[in-house]
This record gives sequence, structure tokens and C-alpha cells, in this order.
Amino acid sequence: MSVKRVTVNYFRKMKEEGKRFSTLTAYDALTASILDEAGIDLVLVGDSLGNVFQGRETTIPVTLDHMIYHGEIVSRSVSRAFVVVDMPFMSFQVSVEDAVRNAGRIMQESGCHAVKLEGGVRTSSQISAIVSTGIPVLGHVGLTPQSVHAFGGYGVRGKDSPDALIEDALAVQEAGAFGVVLEKIPRSLAKRITETLTIPTIGIGAGPHCDGQVIVIADLLGLFKKFKPSFVRRYAELADTISDAVTNYKRDVEDGSFPDDSESYD
Ligand code: KIV
Repeated sequence: MSVKRVTVNYFRKMKEEGKRFSTLTAYDALTASILDEAGIDLVLVGDSLGNVFQGRETTIPVTLDHMIYHGEIVSRSVSRAFVVVDMPFMSFQVSVEDAVRNAGRIMQESGCHAVKLEGGVRTSSQISAIVSTGIPVLGHVGLTPQSVHAFGGYGVRGKDSPDALIEDALAVQEAGAFGVVLEKIPRSLAKRITETLTIPTIGIGAGPHCDGQVIVIADLLGLFKKFKPSFVRRYAELADTISDAVTNYKRDVEDGSFPDDSESYD
């Protein structure tokens, strides 16, 4: 039985009806299909794959080819979810023309449904040019990890200059984005932005008042153990589960109890 694909209109309608929606990241086929079957509405192929999949300190080394590679795998592995692929560092900052060409490559070569790019006022011309070609865009303001070195770290944004952040979110909306991610900003500011905008907001570390929420899958599953940002809720402790499983496997191989007769051919 074919299922009805989530589209940009779904998120608009959810906001109009005051309903919340869920977003998670995925970078591989197995995870993407589990999220899809669980009814996750939006699957984000985030450039957080630099941290999660590639084990890097920041998202800056992630390339357009990396994003297309993972975007294609995820897009092919879901049948209901709306798939958004991140535009990586330097794929949209240099010029509007570059941004449009690279967004087009992501759409054509990955088969995703929309692109996401970081920045508010400063990337609004890129957003409107991409949108005018018929590509849906998800904005991203607040803590934008590609600018981590300019910010001097991963601290909360928008405390000192909330008005600048509201301007950023409004610029993203005016440029034609279908939604905007609000990352690591005070909950009162996220509430104000969510009430001001007509497009949906998707929060990460932005409190409970956003229209949708997003978490990096490795954080939610307890796979990433180096530290736990306070905004993360772990729904599983998979690093411990995997560690127990492989330790037990090693023991069974070493003591000769794996494989047994039922796990061997006659
Ligand atoms: O790269 C990513 O996964 C993201 C989300 C955390 C919003 O941008």
C-alpha cells in the first residue's frame, strides 16, 4: 500500500491548526526507514553528519558531495517523510549563483524534497533565489554551527540581541522559506518568533513553544556519549546496549559457545 507523502503544505497546515510535528536527523538507510515507519514527518540529512558519522569536531569540513551521498541514501529509504538536505559550509555563502547551482545539484542528485541553509538576513538573497527556482528552503537561525568559530563556541544565541534574531527569522520568512530552524535560543525568544511568523518554527534547544522539534538522532538514542547538551532528552542508551552486545559476542567466540549447532550447517 502506498502512503501519502508529507509535503510543505502539511507543515503549513499543522501550524495553522496549532499541531506540533516531529523532525529527526538520519544519514543512513536503516535509520531513515525506521524513522519513516515510526511516522517522523521530516527527516533532516543534517551536516551534523560531520560530527555523528565522520567523527569530526565541527561541521565545517563537510562537503557538497558528502551531503549528496547521504541525501540520496536517505531519500531512497523513506516513502512518507519529507526529506531535507543541509547545504554545507561554502556551498551557498560565496554567491547567489553558487547557492542556486548547488541547491539544484542537491535536489537533482539526492532526490530530496528541500534544502536547508544557515543564516538569516545575510543569506536572505540566496534563499529567495533558490525558492524562485521552485526549490523549497528551510532556514536556520540562532546557533548556526557553520559559524562556530565566528561565535567563539556553541553558546546560547540571541540573549544580548533578541531583536537581531527576530529580524533574521523574519528575513528568512520574507525570502520565501517554508519553515525555519531555531537553534539554541532562549525559550521566550523562540515563543515570540513562533507567534510572529506565519511559517512553522522547528526548535532545537529552543524550548517548548516551537511548532516542531528536531534532535540529532545519535543524541536521542544515547549513541553519542562524550557529552549531553542540556536540551537533549535521551530515549535510549544504545551505546551501552551495543557495548554489552559486542562484549558478549567476543566472550562467546573466545569460549567456543558461538556458533552452536543451530547456528551451523550440516
Ligand atoms: O545538521 C543538523 O543536524 C542540523 C540540526 C541540528 C538542526 O542542522
